This record gives sequence, structure tokens and C-alpha cells, in this order.
Amino acid sequence: MLDLWLIIHFIGLALGVGASFAALTLALATRSMPPAERGEFMRRASILGKNGSLGLLLLIISGLGIMIGRGVDVVMAWGGPMFHIKLTLVVILIGLVGYLQVLMRKARSSDGAAAAARMPFVSRIVLLLGLSIVVFAVLAFH
Ligand code: HEM
Repeated sequence: MLDLWLIIHFIGLALGVGASFAALTLALATRSMPPAERGEFMRRASILGKNGSLGLLLLIISGLGIMIGRGVDVVMAWGGPMFHIKLTLVVILIGLVGYLQVLMRKARSSDGAAAAARMPFVSRIVLLLGLSIVVFAVLAFH
């Protein structure tokens, strides 16, 4: 069962961090587009956020599955301070992904320009957080 949780953990990682990379690539590729056209394009591309949320959900469920399977105390001792940092960053990531969902919903409304303008910056912070969590996860368990 632990292997299955770890497989799901990596699929969640591919979905979640992959969506962040895709959002960055789309934002960079559309920089030269006229603002109205770009706004419309990014509003449609924000569907990628669903992959991001699903990836994070899979990471949380499988991460908790591994912790319960191995024993919470065992994993906390095994992972040490690096794992504490990882979990702290995961909590911040959950909050930011939630905020990004709110911005996406607002961006789809008629007066959503301000929300749409804030999304690229928040998406980049989400990507940086995701990458930092990967670094601390590997440092914790190797
Ligand atoms: C509540 C959320 C999470 C929990 C409880 C959790 C827990 C764990 C645990 C216990 C392991 C060790 C697996 C093993 O080898 O048996 C692990 C590995 C890993 N986790 Fe998480 N995780 C969570 C979220 C995340 C997130 C959000 C990311 C990335 C954005 C992530 C990335 C990784 C990576 C890359 C590994 C592999 C580390 C390695 O084998 O070197 N995890 N996680």
C-alpha cells in the first residue's frame, strides 16, 4: 500500500508542479499579445488550475496515507527538521492555491481585470513554493 501511495504522490507532483510550469510558459509565450486578446487567452488557459488543485489534493491524500502507513512519529523522526519545513511550506501552498482559485473565479467575471492582472505573480509564487517543497522533501528523506 505504501508503494501505491508513493506512486500517487509522484502523479500528484507531476500534475501539480506541471500545471505551474505550463502556466508560466503560457504567460511568457503570450507577453507580446494585445492586452484584450491576452486577457481572453489567459482566462481560457486558467482551466490549467484544475490540474494544479487535483495534483495538490493527490499529494495531500497520498502524503497523509504514507505518514499513517509508516507511522506519524516514525516519519516525523525520519524526516526531521527538513520535513517540518516541507509541511510548513505545504500549508502555505494550500493557502495560495486557494487564493489563486478565488482570483480565477473573479477573473472570469465582467470586472475581473484586476484579479486577472494579479494571477501571473501569484502563479509564479506557487511554482517557486512547489519547487522548494520538492527540494525539502528530498533533503528530508535522503
Ligand atoms: C500534506 C502534504 C504532504 C505530506 C504529508 C507529504 C509526505 C511525504 C512523505 C511521508 C514522503 C516520503 C515518502 C517515502 O519515501 O516513503 C514524501 C515524499 C515526497 N514528497 Fe511529500 N508530502 C506532502 C505534500 C507534498 C507536496 C505538496 C510535494 C511537492 C510539491 C511533495 C513532494 C514530495 C517528494 C518529491 C517526495 C519524494 C522524496 C524522496 O523520495 O526523496 N509532497 N512526502
